[in-house]
Amino acid sequence: MFNLSSIVFAATVFAASVGMAAPVRRQNNCYLTGKVALPAEIQNLQAGLSSVTCDTSNEVFPNVPDVTSGGISYSSIDFQSSNLSPLGFALKTFATPTDPAQTDMTVLQNQLNTYLAVESSIRSQSASNSANLTKVKSAKFFLQFQAARAKTALGQKLGVADTVEHQLGKVTKNAIGATKEELAAVNALAKQL
Ligand SMILES: *[C@@H]1O[C@H](CO)[C@@H](O)[C@H](O)[C@H]1NC(C)=O
Repeated sequence: MFNLSSIVFAATVFAASVGMAAPVRRQNNCYLTGKVALPAEIQNLQAGLSSVTCDTSNEVFPNVPDVTSGGISYSSIDFQSSNLSPLGFALKTFATPTDPAQTDMTVLQNQLNTYLAVESSIRSQSASNSANLTKVKSAKFFLQFQAARAKTALGQKLGVADTVEHQLGKVTKNAIGATKEELAAVNALAKQL
């Protein structure tokens, strides 16, 4: 015969096992701290960012953990550490060698991965645009622009959305707080291939 306490115990174990065995949320990369669905083009990047790790003890934006890709942490290349505009910071921090073909593509990709992860994290919390999102995008597009320059210099064939001209347009459009000089510097780099 069951007594009341064993029934309560069994019910508690059952509830706990259901809670563990049936997660309601889809599997997410660690930095996706919010519940807002990502735009398709950002969602499509998530599989490529699955090895990014998170440090929740160090938030780089509200509810956004520091993230690391291939040994490079976002916090070590955060534009917020600078008084320059995000683009000005990116020009200084993510410079390529004079010959862009000499770029260390692994480092550049890991730097880009941390910015993509932080962008995704911010977007997972709100569907609306914020100044913080635009700032992150400003530096992110510069990283993509640098990758496009390097790949072009290496003679790689690029899709229309990956060309230097296309990324230059994105950098220009998202250049929040940038000076005329910074924009002129990016335009000059677009011709240094
Ligand atoms: C933007 O980021 C700053 C610094 O990380 C933070 O203090 C601020 O609250 C953020 N703004 C919003 C709207 O989340």
